[in-house]
Amino acid sequence: MNYANITGWGKALPPAVLTNDDLATFLDTDDQWITSRTGMKERRISNVSVSELAYVACAKALACAGKTADDVDLIVFGSCTFDELCPNAASNVQRLLGATNAACMDLNTACTSGMYSLTAATAMIRSGVVNSALIIGAEVISPLMDWTNRDVAVLFGDGAAALYLEPDENETGVITESLGCFGESREILSIEGWGAKYRDPKRTLCDINWDFHGQDIFKRAVEGMTKGCLSTLEKSGLTNEDIDLVVPHQANLRIIKTLGKRLNLDSDKVFINIHKYGNMSAATALVALVEAIEEGRVKPGSKVLIPAFGGGLTWSSHLILWGDRCTGLSEIDIEVPASDKTGLEIIQQLLKH
Ligand code: UT7
Repeated sequence: MNYANITGWGKALPPAVLTNDDLATFLDTDDQWITSRTGMKERRISNVSVSELAYVACAKALACAGKTADDVDLIVFGSCTFDELCPNAASNVQRLLGATNAACMDLNTACTSGMYSLTAATAMIRSGVVNSALIIGAEVISPLMDWTNRDVAVLFGDGAAALYLEPDENETGVITESLGCFGESREILSIEGWGAKYRDPKRTLCDINWDFHGQDIFKRAVEGMTKGCLSTLEKSGLTNEDIDLVVPHQANLRIIKTLGKRLNLDSDKVFINIHKYGNMSAATALVALVEAIEEGRVKPGSKVLIPAFGGGLTWSSHLILWGDRCTGLSEIDIEVPASDKTGLEIIQQLLKH
């Protein structure tokens, strides 16, 4: 059976930045609280749709792998903030790329969607169903955020990343993973108003209310990611000493530190970028992985552990054995279009609505 090597990677971050001080102009909060409780300093606010962000990340991943759109057999789009539900978002990315040979599917497990997409595509390559895949973790949460609720509004940001996968006879790519869900506690993280359940004459679609029990989510995130990592290590016959780099989902720096203590991880081995982007949900772990590669933290043959957690409450932990290449084969001159508004101006416009 083939393995599924990761040969291309790319990220797309919206140019507009929203700082903690910006948030404090319209919420009862401040930089000191947000920094000390979450580790976040700023986040990005998108001026384009989630499909357009994903397209930029995919174009970069393809160039990095030295491939063209014709080479793509499958697109798996992981997100919980799709522009529309039918037609799906992966088909929009297919059209933007011109990847006419690709099958297209969307996958929603909230913040773990990018990682579950990696599992789905890896399994389909390893079993021979497809010969290549682009997987996406992308989120444009800002239009669905309740910007009057400081409990959640300070936590999230927009972004996207994509990976290109292709078959390889050598052991590489995702070697082992553990997936799970605490469905009995699914209500503690829910976006009320987003879905057909909320069809109600007294309510307009996308009249959003976040039901977000921060402290309970915190505890379950630590529990889920710890459980996932221990299970993955056990299945692969490895210990934490064998892991070269941990790239965790970035929802809260204190969650990451607690996870590190539970697993007895050397903090030098843990990649952090939460201060720049906040929690980008499905995009978070994949953007962090792409930046870890770009910063030289992932080396040929590195064993990389990626724990993630999200609504559902889904959890995951992937062990990746990195291949022999950590630089792209080529580059493409494409970026998210410039924004004519600052992050704060985009939010002020959303608040007016
Ligand atoms: O991707 C997976 C989903 N997300 C997560 O995993 C997030 C998990 N949860 C968390 O990260 C944390 O629980 C939060 C960052 C959401 C909250 O941190 P906390 O340390 O659990 O704070 P708290 O909810 O216990 O609130 C402490 C105080 C409260 O005031 P009182 O009752 O002590 O007077 C809150 O009202 O902080 C207040 N507070 C704020 N103050 C300033 C809550 N949000 C804010 C805010 N600015 N933005």
